[in-house]
Amino acid sequence: MTGVTGKTVGPHSAGPKRLAKQRESSTKSRPTTQDPDRSQVVVVDHPIVATGLAILRAKTTTPDLFRRHLQEIAILLFAEASRNWEIAPIEVDTPLSSCAGAVLAKPVVLVPILRAGLGMLDGILRVVPDASIGHIGLYRDAETLRPVNYYDRLPVNIAAAEALLLDPMLATGHSACEAASILKAQGARSIQFLCVLACPPGVQQFQNEHPDVPIIAAAVDPELNEFGYIVPGLGDAGDRYFGTG
Ligand code: URA
Repeated sequence: MTGVTGKTVGPHSAGPKRLAKQRESSTKSRPTTQDPDRSQVVVVDHPIVATGLAILRAKTTTPDLFRRHLQEIAILLFAEASRNWEIAPIEVDTPLSSCAGAVLAKPVVLVPILRAGLGMLDGILRVVPDASIGHIGLYRDAETLRPVNYYDRLPVNIAAAEALLLDPMLATGHSACEAASILKAQGARSIQFLCVLACPPGVQQFQNEHPDVPIIAAAVDPELNEFGYIVPGLGDAGDRYFGTG
């Protein structure tokens, strides 16, 4: 997981050209959690993310390949999200001697937004198998595009944890905003939002409501269409992951 470089870009990175320019000129600094003044989108600039994303986007990609690459990208987004997490020192006995080691200082809580967010869960769990898992069930009303909360169940240790909200698509931003509000209402204090694709209206909406929650994305696409789909995007992430399209 080494070598992931998070490029920090602003919320109005409307076009690919502008994004490319921002990628070139951006620094390696990234926002800290709960720091409203520095809230930004971190685009994970990594060849495996770029190649995996191309596979996710292709309309000919089968569900099994889609699953594999979504999980893989989720791991790389997770690597970026956890880059500045506190570690606690431990002593490790190797077969030859003892030496200094590390463990994560805080528990990790993964919160997929149902249902597409589930597609990012298993990959991340391979890296942090002892993470707790919360669920937030939201569906998007087809007419209003507003989220309807039909289920939530979060771990009791969420206040002390590093909480990661998972949803492959930050489209209108309504679901992401609602989910972040639910996490905060249940005590979460350190939250990051991980998505594969974001778009400027979603980023804007999310940052207006949750300027303290960093967004970690594989890419920021230029548009949101009138049906609430990201363009060029990858289609309906849930349908493609679960093979229901
Ligand atoms: N949800 C999706 O699955 N795809 C989009 O483009 C937007 C929202």
